[in-house]
Amino acid sequence: MKFRTDRPPTWQACGECGNELPVNDARARCPVCGGLLELQHRPPDLTRDQLIERFNTRQRRGLDAPASGVWRFRDVVLPGAERVISHPEGNTPLLHREALDRYTGLSRLLLKHEGHNPTGSFKDRGMTVGVTQAVRLGAAAVACASTGNTSASLAAYAAQAGVPALVLVPAGNVALGKLAQSLAYGARTLLVRGDFDACLRLVEEASAKLGVYLLNSINPFRLEGQKTIVLELLQQLGWEAPDWIALPAGNLGNTAAFGKALREAHGLGLIDRVPRLLAVQAAGAAPFAAGFSDDFATRRRVRAETAATAIRIGDPASWDRAVDAIRFSNGYVAAVSDAEIFAAKRVIDSCGVGCEPASAASVAGVRVLAERGIIGAGERVVAVLTGHLLKDPDAALAARVAGGLGSEESLTRDEALAHLGRVLAGS
Ligand code: F0G
Repeated sequence: MKFRTDRPPTWQACGECGNELPVNDARARCPVCGGLLELQHRPPDLTRDQLIERFNTRQRRGLDAPASGVWRFRDVVLPGAERVISHPEGNTPLLHREALDRYTGLSRLLLKHEGHNPTGSFKDRGMTVGVTQAVRLGAAAVACASTGNTSASLAAYAAQAGVPALVLVPAGNVALGKLAQSLAYGARTLLVRGDFDACLRLVEEASAKLGVYLLNSINPFRLEGQKTIVLELLQQLGWEAPDWIALPAGNLGNTAAFGKALREAHGLGLIDRVPRLLAVQAAGAAPFAAGFSDDFATRRRVRAETAATAIRIGDPASWDRAVDAIRFSNGYVAAVSDAEIFAAKRVIDSCGVGCEPASAASVAGVRVLAERGIIGAGERVVAVLTGHLLKDPDAALAARVAGGLGSEESLTRDEALAHLGRVLAGS
């Protein structure tokens, strides 16, 4: 990257035509060509080791924003931000469970559990940056369309900032925990007759007309925060890159953010090799996987159907930048059936980790690629679990009953005692 001293710390650039906008331009898309915007930062004036030491020092130090797993990377997230709206968020664990090594056939699969964020999903990492920017701009209100997690996160951070929030979700296709959060945190929540793709079109149109700040993942500030999933896991691994990073993919904002994180981490010398991204879609909502099979010759759209409602998306908004992420990382895109997603979820749940259905797609995808020999048994893989088990309690219960491992029947006292007796006797 060429260093120009007349640059501000951060500016926006169109991913399509290269048009540049100042950091405080609130428009959702490039005014010249309608392309998506991305943030560019003046590179930090530090060596690799100094930068790593700065991240480490912030992690060790004190309360609030510096301890956030997002803002400790602020030099490469939003260096100019002064007052940040932080819960704090991030600092999620890297877990290892032997049951999942057996399930995937790998020798040591690590799980980056983003369900440990304050509202229970990775969205908090993007939202702390997005709402911080909304406040910097003096936004009168913020809005998003969502399959549930973005809206829960937006609602929480908007409440913290004291900015009104408006969310549009597809009626009948949002998991209970997420809907409850959005309402409880006080967002004006509209249940729209239509799918997520229709909600996104609607909110984009409405926010342009009403001057409401749009905080879907087409917003470039969101992606800067989500990059820190990758930065934090690399830091946890001592900046030794794994061979693969697997993640579930829907609207493709996170895939795009991961690609940007890897490109920048490599550019700054934080890592000396680039892990391969594995983006995993539900087979009923897999336009990106279909695109991958013909080297992304055309942009695909489908009518989405999957019980993993978080990724029930047929027309992903961040398509082009996700294509870049897969190409840059020599990555792979897979589709897994709902049966494979729920089978993986049962194993993740039953080893005490737990996640929501969409999150299990990453582990299901790793298993499929390991079976096909695309991931070698000795390769080091980190699978991202994007959301907490309690996000979707109905799915968690259904998965247990379907697996014959539990029962929804209620028992009398005597029946319960008899049942316990049988369990203890091992029958
Ligand atoms: N996993 C979970 C739990 C999600 O909620 C989402 C997206 C994804 C994976 C996929 O990420 O869209 O960046 O490819 N949820 C959005 C929402 C769409 O509205 O909460 P993506």
